[in-house]
Amino acid sequence: MNFNSGGKRVNDTFAEINLSELKRNFNIIKKLAGKRNKNGVKICSIVKANAYGHGMNETGKALAGYGTEYLATADYSESIILRNYLKKFSVNIPVLCLGILTENKKYFEDIAGGDIDVTITDYKIAFYLNNFAKSRNKKINIQIQMDSGINRIGFDFKDGYEAIKKLSGLENLKIKGIYSHYATSEIPRNSYALRQLNDFKNFVKEVEHNLTKIELKHISNSGGILNYNDPFFNMARPGISLYGYYPDRKKAVKDIGINPVMTLKSKVSFIKDLDKNQSISYGRKYFTKKKTKIASIPIGYGDGYPRQLTNKSKVLINGKYYKTVGTVCMDWIMADIGTNSGVNVNDEVILFGKNYPADKLSDITGTIPYEITCNISSRVQRIYVNR
Ligand SMILES: Cc1ncc(COP(=O)(O)O)c(C=O)c1O
Repeated sequence: MNFNSGGKRVNDTFAEINLSELKRNFNIIKKLAGKRNKNGVKICSIVKANAYGHGMNETGKALAGYGTEYLATADYSESIILRNYLKKFSVNIPVLCLGILTENKKYFEDIAGGDIDVTITDYKIAFYLNNFAKSRNKKINIQIQMDSGINRIGFDFKDGYEAIKKLSGLENLKIKGIYSHYATSEIPRNSYALRQLNDFKNFVKEVEHNLTKIELKHISNSGGILNYNDPFFNMARPGISLYGYYPDRKKAVKDIGINPVMTLKSKVSFIKDLDKNQSISYGRKYFTKKKTKIASIPIGYGDGYPRQLTNKSKVLINGKYYKTVGTVCMDWIMADIGTNSGVNVNDEVILFGKNYPADKLSDITGTIPYEITCNISSRVQRIYVNR
């Protein structure tokens, strides 16, 4: 334990969540999303999967303070936890659950409690929910998910029209929104994304012309906001960009000025002098090239630092990069600091953050920054700072 973040007592390894960066990112995204729409665009901030590892409750509450109109979660257990947390602070913005509602009615009572918009992908479930809402004398907001080409969940265009016709007759449900999701929005000018955009837009136009007006229409995730801004839509659902990353940095055509919100930090716990040709860590995957010093840092795959980074990543200590050496353990990694680094026990170590973004690590492991931040495990304390 030590006191090295904002005077709060923290573990040696912790994730510092910079809410000022979150706010800056939010404002950049909101402006960009609304650029082509004179009435502005509402933001539904995605805080599923513990806000991509940043802490769902705290991040959600902060985003509500910055003006997000909606928050979205992956399933009802997340939605309910978040809604109840926000209520404690009298924050009453709605939470959209992107997941599937099942017939077993497990969450119906909580949903009827208010402030949760239900994604509808199946008429039968909507019918049950409507009956339940009637029995409680409540009106529940629903948002219809259309599958325009990701082929995951949602109505396809063929069935969607008839379903919406029937849904608009369910008196205790209000069709608040309709949305779809891109498969390739991180790629600019991609024909598949453009096809999804146009098909969905035409479908909604037809629905609005023939059946019912719908208040919220949305398709853009971060990639959509960056590459497929279309004034027909009045809400957008950014996730990764709020946390300071591009869905695919190499394909991002312009730098919009967002910065990583999370900095994963630890400290040097132990320094060992080693001669040439000494092996380090499990499996003896690294041998010292010459006499050197090895710094042991208390973080490992048990904290979500990927084992595939073995012998491949760097860490930042006192503003300098050092190579990690030897197999990543469950609780430890080692860095070769050479003989003259001046690094001492207790010096701060940055595993990733603003100056060494998580996508450097995801490039090495062949994944995406989403997975790096999502996987920071629950034993890593999140510390919220404003600076
Ligand atoms: C339905 C839906 N909307 C929006 C998002 C946010 O996407 P991104 O993090 O790429 O902005 C996601 C994330 O997976 C999603 O599943």
